[in-house]
Amino acid sequence: MKKNKFSDMSYVDFISFIKETNRCPGGKDTINWILRNSFANDKTHVLEIGSNTGFSSLEVARLLKCNVLGIDVVANAVNIANQELKQDTKEIQKLVKFKVGSAYNIPCKDNSIDLIIAGGSTSFMDNKNKAITEMYRVLKPWGMCSVTNLFYHTRPPKKVLKAVSDIIGTEIKYMTAKDWLDLYTNVNDFEIYKFETEKLSAQTENTLKDYIEYFMNKPHIACLSCEEKNAIKQRWHDILTVFNENHKYLGFIKCLLRKRTSPEEPELFKIKTKLN
Ligand SMILES: C[S@@+](CC[C@H](N)C(=O)[O-])C[C@H]1O[C@@H](n2cnc3c(N)ncnc32)[C@H](O)[C@@H]1O
Repeated sequence: MKKNKFSDMSYVDFISFIKETNRCPGGKDTINWILRNSFANDKTHVLEIGSNTGFSSLEVARLLKCNVLGIDVVANAVNIANQELKQDTKEIQKLVKFKVGSAYNIPCKDNSIDLIIAGGSTSFMDNKNKAITEMYRVLKPWGMCSVTNLFYHTRPPKKVLKAVSDIIGTEIKYMTAKDWLDLYTNVNDFEIYKFETEKLSAQTENTLKDYIEYFMNKPHIACLSCEEKNAIKQRWHDILTVFNENHKYLGFIKCLLRKRTSPEEPELFKIKTKLN
């Protein structure tokens, strides 16, 4: 592929540049599921880890009118999130904050957060254990941590995993739904409070083309030179083609983990957790 400033940008910088509304898997439906099942309300202090361009944090504040802090390591993404926030109502502007920050060193006090939202972000992290330990530290006792992550229901070819890893900039491993649950519950004493899985599917080539065209028509892209537009179109097409292939093997987990203060007694005849 010919080198240019768009081919050299990191994936998160690139989607921040084209202003793709990055969402957690399942988008608004998932946010709705998290808020209903965590019993969140306007008094809930919410922390989003990997807030990207702000979609989930803003959605939570709009629904609950509660305080939300979104952190992300990528400054460009935080800038876009702050631009989105400026366009929202004064009420939402008072409730939401976005800042550059890492899950490895969360800028919050111990036991200070009621609900953590980690939608897709743990997949981007090399040191997942460190991030999970930090999430546990900042949660209040009985606080909830929601994890929404893509998992593989079928093992994908190695070349698909490599292509996705190259785009994301972090090694993507073959993780099943159980692997994600084990990862989160083995690091700390998280209780699996609620857990569901959803299936995903690949889109047709025409749907991909229409989606790319939608971005090419955005005013801040349509005004660029032909050379720049072609470079953006090429990079976006390459990324989406790889993601689309990957989606043949993917589902996603919706999970609420709870920070207990004491272990629960075993329950003999309990409902079986379905893994996919
Ligand atoms: C798939 S996006 C998250 C989408 C977002 N949750 C939403 O609902 O719009 C993953 C994000 O995690 C961020 N990320 C990666 N490593 C991180 C870390 N150590 N701390 C905080 N954010 C991180 C990436 O920069 C990226 O913006």
